[in-house]
Order: sequence, then C-alpha cells, then structure tokens
Amino acid sequence: MPHDVALIATLAMGFVLAFVFGFIANKLSLPPLVGYLLAGVAVGPFTPGFVADTALAGQLAEVGVMLLMFGVGLHFSAADLMAVRRIAVPGAVGQIVIATVIGAGMAMLWGWSFGAGLVLGLSLSVASTVVLLKALDERNAVSTPNGRIAVGWLIVEDLAMVLVLVLLPAFAGLLGGQAPVDGHAAHGAAGGDGGGPGLLLTLVITLAKVGAFVAIAMIFGPRVVPWILRQVARTGSRELFTLSVLAVALGIAFGSAKLFGVSFALGAFFAGVVLSESDLSHKAAANSLPLQDAFAVLFFVSVGMLFDPSIIVREPLMVVGVLLVILVGKAVAAVGIVLVLGYPLSTALVVSASLAQIGEFSFILAGLGISYHLLPPEGLSLILAGALLSITVSPLVFAGADRLIARIPAIPASRAARFGRLQGELAAAREQMEKRLAAHKTFTPEELAERFPLFSSLTPEQREVLVLHFHPATAQPGQRLIRVGDEADAAYFISSGEVEVATPGRKIKLRAGDFFGEMALLSGARRSADVTALDYSKFLMLSRRDFRQFLKKHPAIRDQITALAAQRGEMNRKQPETGDPDGGGDTPAPAPAA
Ligand code: CMP
Repeated sequence: MPHDVALIATLAMGFVLAFVFGFIANKLSLPPLVGYLLAGVAVGPFTPGFVADTALAGQLAEVGVMLLMFGVGLHFSAADLMAVRRIAVPGAVGQIVIATVIGAGMAMLWGWSFGAGLVLGLSLSVASTVVLLKALDERNAVSTPNGRIAVGWLIVEDLAMVLVLVLLPAFAGLLGGQAPVDGHAAHGAAGGDGGGPGLLLTLVITLAKVGAFVAIAMIFGPRVVPWILRQVARTGSRELFTLSVLAVALGIAFGSAKLFGVSFALGAFFAGVVLSESDLSHKAAANSLPLQDAFAVLFFVSVGMLFDPSIIVREPLMVVGVLLVILVGKAVAAVGIVLVLGYPLSTALVVSASLAQIGEFSFILAGLGISYHLLPPEGLSLILAGALLSITVSPLVFAGADRLIARIPAIPASRAARFGRLQGELAAAREQMEKRLAAHKTFTPEELAERFPLFSSLTPEQREVLVLHFHPATAQPGQRLIRVGDEADAAYFISSGEVEVATPGRKIKLRAGDFFGEMALLSGARRSADVTALDYSKFLMLSRRDFRQFLKKHPAIRDQITALAAQRGEMNRKQPETGDPDGGGDTPAPAPAA
C-alpha cells in the first residue's frame, strides 16, 4: 500500500471493523465498546492480516480523548456533585487509594518496580464513566439517587485522574522513568527527568502552570466563549456553528497544551466546563456528539491495537490477578467505604457494581506510563485484558447486584435517615437545575411553530436558527415590561401568560402567541405604549439587532408584522377624545420600514 494513504487506510479499516464488531457485540448483548476494542486487536500488530499505522491511530485516539473529555466537561453538573460530595469524595479517594495499594502490592510481588506498580494500581483503581453511563442508561437508572451517587463518585475519580495525569510526568524521573523520546508533549510539558533537587521546582512549575490555565479558563472562558458562539449562531449557519464548537474544543485543548503544558484532556475538559454554563451548551453538545462518538470509537480501536492477546496464554495468573483487583478488590473496598460512611447496603452494591470495570482513563494512564518508560509493555496488555474482560462481564455484575439488592431486608433506620437526607439534597439540586433550565428554556422548532403561527412558514432549520436568537424572560403580575417613551431594545413574543397594552384611552390584552414591542423597533421611534404583565408570563425576546436581521431575511414575515404594527398605530391615532390629553400627541405612528 503506498504510504500516502496510510491515514485513509487506518480510518477506513478502523471504522469498518469497529462497526462490524460493535454490531456483533450488540447482537450478543455486550457493550459495543467490547467490539471496538476487538476491532483494534484485529487490525493491531499482534494479530495476522492487515496492520494499521499505530502512530496514526494513536493520534486519532488522542482526538477521541479530547472530544470525550470535552463532552464530560459539557455535562459536568457542579450542583449534583455538591449534593453527593459527602459520599462521593471520601468514597472515590478512599477507593482509589485502596485499589492502588492492592494493585501496586500485587505488581511488586511480581517483581515490578514501585513506579510500574503505582501506574498499574492507579490504572486499575479508576472505572470508566463512559461504560457506567451506558450501563445506567440501559437500566433507566441515571437519575435514581444510587445512580447519581455512582456518577458523582466516578466524576471525582475522573478529576483525581486528571490530576494524576498532570503530576505523573513531573514525578516520572523520581519513580525511575525517563522523558519520552518522541516528544510526547501531549501529556504535560514538565519532563520526566526532574528527579533529585529539581523535582520540587518542576512540581511547583507544573502546578503553577495548571493553576494559571484553570484561572484564565474560568475567568475569561465564560465571558468570551459563549459570546463567540452567540455571534456565530446569529449568522444562521449550522455548519459554522458546529465548526465553532469544534474550534473551541480542539483549539483550547491544543492551545493550552502548548502554552501551559497541561494535557489535551484537561484543556478539552475545561473547554467543555466553560461552555456548559452557556444556554447554547445543549446545542453545542448536540453538534459535537457525532464527531465525539466517531473519534471515541477510534480511541477504543487504537487501544485495542496495542493489546497483545497472547498475554492471556503467557501470563494467565497475572490476568486473573488484575481481574480480581478490578472485580473483587474494588468492589469490597467500595462496599466497606459506603457502609462505614453510614449509607445503606443497596447503595454500596450499586456503587460496587458501577466500579467493577476499567476504561478510558486506565488506557490513557497506561499509555502515559509506557511513554515515560514507567510501565513495562505487558502492563498495558494486562490492563487491556482487564478492561476487555471486566467491561464484558459488567452487565452480569449489575444483574448480580440487582439480585442481591432484591434480597436485602429493610434498611436500618439510621442508614435510611442518612440516605433520606442525601435524597433530599439530590432533589434540591435537581430542582435548582430544572429552574435554571426552565429560565433558559426556549422552544424546540416544532413548539415554536405551534405557539406562534407567525413562524409556521419557516423551515425547521430556519426556526432552529431563530430559537437561538431568542432570550427567554419571565414576568410577575403587575410587572411593567415596556414604558411609553422609552427607547426600544427588543421585541417580545408571548409564550405564556397575558399582558396589557395601555395606549391613551384604551387597554388591550395580548396573550400567548401574540407579540409586542415591534412598533418602536420598526419605526426607530420611542415606545408607543405601556405594557404590563397581568399574569405570570413568559416571553421570548428578540434584540433590536436580531429582530431587524430576521425581518430582512424573511420578507413575508416582515410584511405580516409591519401590517399589524400599522394597524395598531392606526388604532392608536383614532383614540377616543376621552383619552389622556398628554398621551395622544407625542406618540409617533410607526412607519412601515424594514
Ligand atoms: P412599541 O411601540 O415598541 O412598544 C409598545 C407596544 O405596545 C407597541 O410597540 C406594540 O407592540 C404594542 N401596542 C401599541 N398599540 C397597540 C394596540 N393598539 N394594540 C395592540 N398592541 C399595541
């Protein structure tokens, strides 16, 4: 094969085989992830037949990790995490420590160095959020209290691993590793040669860089990034919007790796967190999802490529040892911790089942360990064997936990009380989030057409763009929304409730589906009437600029709105003489301008 098609060959074979194996896995009721890993094994150098370009696959995988972490950041809910912190933080930290000690101890019994043992132990200690979310989703348990405890626990693990990924290069020298020769700058700029007296300095510099990055990302990010996205959304081009989301995700990840020496994964995670605060985050998530899925698949394929299946025959005992740590060691540790913290056995069982697998972070960590010459190559194969097997049996583990939970007699009162408090906090967190979402919620394109017949002539895509431009607003009964004589900044579309327009001498009620505030925007004059909410009301507001641009693009709707404004102006001019003498004269009539 000519060498210039290596990328195409890798992509094509990766996707084709991942699809075929993933489909078969699905038919066998296994997670498709198992199929992707096996597809990687099939195109890897350890099995006969086609061998994909490992270096290229590695880079594609890195893109997958960046997009995955971007997605984790986008869905990061600080409120949920706060609600479960009392169990998730000590639980995750304690369980990581216990599992790492067991794993490292086992490796040292095999004669491995402390550094190698540490990397192995850490890799085995962290479960896969991707696998857990899929498993919970299949069982409809994502939003149950136990499900949310498990997710919170895994997020704490992920965050701890992000820290480990940043610190490992700084400590690699001390642990007996060396800086990678291939300039693997992706996982931190601090070299692994910082042993001895330079270590502390390296560590301080690394942490300072990470701190600077996080501070800059959290201070400027939420101001700049949503602003950019909004500008792009205004153009109405879906393509440009998707592109801007990718540019933000990959740009921040790559730029921060270059500037601050943080990992691509951390950079991408913060790009996601920054965006998650914006009301455009759902759209950003939806737009980046297909790409994220595709590259995540390539990530698993490329991990599979590194797997040497002969390890199962060569070192069956080591594989069994690794599996025991993942399936039994972690589960026992988690059950113990949850019970000691005073939560019920059912919670303990759900959390243990959730933890009884390893995934993406283990691979990233193992890859990093290998590039710093900390982990022997068979370490990666062992971790992969552990991941493949544990992910494969994870549905069985969950089913087993369910069966056990069904047999548990009533929860003791003290544990029930503690669990009840946690449930209350979770409910409060959910409520808070729902409130926030409701405040941000506009309409789906379908709802928009249903609620506002004015927009029914638009195509779904045009409506989608329009929805992006709306700012939701609410009002209490009696709240003044528009004051006569004020300058105009927006038009209002009533999505629910009722308002009263007070023109001199006449009061007009407007309801859901109506709009107001258009006259001054059209004419450039001042507001022609007072508008006050009569009921709890919700509106979609369109800023002056967006309103004008929208009308320019849609002449048919412009004509309808202009006609109604002219009618309203006409009506106001024909005020009954009984009207307030100050009010009539200075209200300019709307000019039917575009
Ligand atoms: P504007 O002048 O921007 O601000 C006040 C709004 O009240 C005005 O736009 C119209 O949307 C609305 N309005 C004014 N007069 C009438 C009317 N006669 N009937 C219905 N709505 C009106």
